[in-house]
Amino acid sequence: MTDVIIIRKFKPRDFQKVLDIEYQAFNEHRPDLYMQFYELNADTFLVAEWQGEIVGFIAGIELNGIGKVFSIAVHRNYQKKNIGSILLNATMCTFKSKKINEVYLEVRESNYSAYGFYKKHGFVSIGVQPGYYSDGENAVVMKKILY
Ligand SMILES: CC(C)(COP(=O)(O)OP(=O)(O)OC[C@H]1O[C@@H](n2cnc3c(N)ncnc32)[C@H](O)[C@@H]1OP(=O)(O)O)[C@@H](O)C(=O)NCCC(=O)NCCS
Repeated sequence: MTDVIIIRKFKPRDFQKVLDIEYQAFNEHRPDLYMQFYELNADTFLVAEWQGEIVGFIAGIELNGIGKVFSIAVHRNYQKKNIGSILLNATMCTFKSKKINEVYLEVRESNYSAYGFYKKHGFVSIGVQPGYYSDGENAVVMKKILY
């Protein structure tokens, strides 16, 4: 068994593992969307695998030439080990290879760690979407230009 982190495209058999991580990380759940990401954005829907276990995922989507990080999460036992950074960088590289140079995302105003994570990766805050989440919390909208 290898100790390296493997980043690879999501496969349907990863579905339950991705949902488990999603449920542990977020209050809002859209399991139906993940198979759509697989069908429509397979190149930017990635998982991180360590010792045969799925430990994180990123769902990047593309619409009309613009990229969006729909969701990223790392299992709580594996956070702060650079796995999120590797996933995010891999998706940014794929966007770039598709000539997508503008990427957006939304993050909860209270999610300071994710906000710090995105800032560290060159995203800048460009505004607030009031009441974006179903519990009424605002979203901070962030943007990154890929050069
Ligand atoms: C956000 C998330 C994906 C980051 O993944 P990760 O593998 O833990 O991130 P990395 O180890 O690559 O972290 C790199 C940087 O992110 C920031 N960061 C990550 N987790 C952090 C935390 N809990 N507190 C503060 N900063 C944090 C730091 O700047 C860190 O840099 P440092 O190690 O030099 O301090 C992960 O914390 C997660 O799954 N969070 C829950 C789900 C979530 O909020 N997703 C984003 C929704 S918009």
